[in-house]
Amino acid sequence: MAQVLLEAVSRQIDGNRVIDNISFQVPDGEFWVLVGPSGCGKSTILRTIAGLEPVQQGQLYIGDRLVNGVPARQRDVAMVFQNYALYPHMTVAQNLAFGLKMRQANPDTIRQQVTLVAQSLDIAHLLDRKPRQLSGGQQQRVALGRAIARQPQAFLLDEPLSNLDAQLRDDTRAELKLLHQRFGITTLYVTHDQIEAMTLADQVVVLSQGQVQQVGPPQAVYARPANRMVATFLGSPPMNVVEASFDGQQFRIDGQTLPCPPALAQHLAGQQNSRVSLGFRPEAVTLAPDSAAAQLRLTVSLVEPLGRETLVRGVIPSDRTVVQTVALQAPPHCQPRPGDSLAIQIDPASLFVFAGDGRTLYPP
Ligand SMILES: Nc1ncnc2c1ncn2[C@@H]1O[C@H](COP(=O)(O)OP(=O)(O)OP(=O)(O)O)[C@@H](O)[C@H]1O
Ligand SMILES: [Mg+2]
Repeated sequence: MAQVLLEAVSRQIDGNRVIDNISFQVPDGEFWVLVGPSGCGKSTILRTIAGLEPVQQGQLYIGDRLVNGVPARQRDVAMVFQNYALYPHMTVAQNLAFGLKMRQANPDTIRQQVTLVAQSLDIAHLLDRKPRQLSGGQQQRVALGRAIARQPQAFLLDEPLSNLDAQLRDDTRAELKLLHQRFGITTLYVTHDQIEAMTLADQVVVLSQGQVQQVGPPQAVYARPANRMVATFLGSPPMNVVEASFDGQQFRIDGQTLPCPPALAQHLAGQQNSRVSLGFRPEAVTLAPDSAAAQLRLTVSLVEPLGRETLVRGVIPSDRTVVQTVALQAPPHCQPRPGDSLAIQIDPASLFVFAGDGRTLYPP
């Protein structure tokens, strides 16, 4: 096992910088998740680490070794793709043993390792089957097992769960976490699914348009996003962001007013009458107990009962053409109808303010 270190790694394709000045250091044994919207460069970074794409600029280290010029097969990393390919003519046991055999490990070690990995992944009863005799989820676990059995320096996973159905994806995600706890192999995991990122990662690297936006433990990044992109990307449903103006004491939002907590007002001092983007997560919104306590009024546009809660979306009434939508998680018995007026409160301690360029102004 080894650390993985990128120093100012960039790559251009056809004159476009698809990854731009990427730097981060994954310590030995940690599980890091690269997360970001489609096309932000996640797979390119992973493929670069694997040696499937050249490092055009910057330095890439695996362990203490600079691997810029080292061919893929000599990097001792194992990569699992979304479209995993098992060897169809080999049994599950032979697939799992393949990497070790290529490295001429001794047969006893191979047998032990295959048994251990198969048991961990709950595929021990399938060892004699061929891939075509397995379900999609079982095939995926064999692909993961084949990569783990090699005990590589680092484990590179590119959206490995995206072909699985929802239930199996949740189960396999939990299994992956257990596997990492057990084997401790340095892992880089790529996903656009922020729930996978939040649940699996020791640290997340949030990417957008080929650039790193923020690096940190998932809960810390969730609580203190560096900018609006990160704030709205992590979290489901995403953070609400509404355009507001600040008059020195309160926010004005489409003709309604929202009180500004003193600490925030102090922070914005000198910015009277400026336009800001105000963020608050759906979980910071509650229904007002009575109309006197209402801070904002919404017109309900969509109601989605989810069992444990009801996801309600409403718009802030206005005569502008651009409507501002607010999502909230209401208790399950709350089932308003589209068109209803809803009075809400917003936890003042949970407000975020973003500058015009997206930077987080508050909390500082
Ligand atoms: N061979 C290529 N030729 C031209 N452009 C490419 C090539 N490979 C990648 N790109 C571009 O580089 C950018 C990053 O691609 P990449 O596959 O790394 O994104 P991604 O974050 O993995 O996206 P997804 O979530 O959709 O898999 C994209 O804009 C893509 O169009
Ligand atoms: Mg990709």
